[in-house]
Amino acid sequence: MSSNAELKILLGDNDDDALKKIFLSEGLFNCKQGSSHQEHSLLIDEIFGVNVPALEKKLLLKGIEKTPKGDRDSWGRSMHDGHQTWVGLHPETLQTSYAEIAEILTILSPQHDQHFLDLGAGYGRIGMVLHSMFFGCSFTGIEYVRERVMEGNRIFQKLDCINARLVEADVAHKDYRLSCADFFFLYDFGNSLEIQNVLQQLRKVMGNRPIKVIARGNVTRHFVHKEHAWLSDIFRPLHAKNYSIYSNFEDIKPAVTYY
Ligand SMILES: C[S@@+](CC[C@H](N)C(=O)[O-])C[C@H]1O[C@@H](n2cnc3c(N)ncnc32)[C@H](O)[C@@H]1O
Repeated sequence: MSSNAELKILLGDNDDDALKKIFLSEGLFNCKQGSSHQEHSLLIDEIFGVNVPALEKKLLLKGIEKTPKGDRDSWGRSMHDGHQTWVGLHPETLQTSYAEIAEILTILSPQHDQHFLDLGAGYGRIGMVLHSMFFGCSFTGIEYVRERVMEGNRIFQKLDCINARLVEADVAHKDYRLSCADFFFLYDFGNSLEIQNVLQQLRKVMGNRPIKVIARGNVTRHFVHKEHAWLSDIFRPLHAKNYSIYSNFEDIKPAVTYY
């Protein structure tokens, strides 16, 4: 477990080897009670040099230039062929916090050869936490915005996350084909129709294989419950404030805490 005060001590001039050591230290991504998750994530980004605020600001300025009277609902769409890329949203709302990802991964407790697919992956935070906590698992994140893909892959390389990669692609494109994975992560990446289509494809491609789906945000959770009983109604899901975890082969149990 790390507190924000402890993380602040780690800020400063760490060379790449020191950073790799810090990156693998136990409990780094778990946030101590009482510390804000958002500040915790900002500090982690600062320690490892993940350049989110500057890149998001650049995207926002481009959006404003293109659509001066727009807002955060329209800037991304106007720049990215109508796709909701959330340009202008606060980076900590755009992304799941590191602490929440660590909490989810602890519940899932993946085996070393299992694969995660994040549909609409932002900067690929899940790939980072996965490498640090569950070495040997692999991660593919699909992301539409090139700047996010490039920055995430730069960090994977810097921290030797050899099994993690971000791919620039459109998950809502008619020709996009889901690849197989053990865990699928969806955080309200697009509009309702796009989310519905991806869930339909997930059922077609993976319906008969054992999978777990982590849904974050109200839209994705709404459609899983409304249209995907194979995920929501047969085995017991786990519901937390911001996310739900579903499975088509076993009940989801909370993480075991040892005192
Ligand atoms: C809410 S963010 C979630 C980021 C990440 N999964 C997380 O939890 O931190 C959704 C991401 O989906 C991306 N996105 C939106 N539409 C997309 C599409 N059609 N194909 C690929 N990515 C898309 C956005 O650019 C954004 O980075």
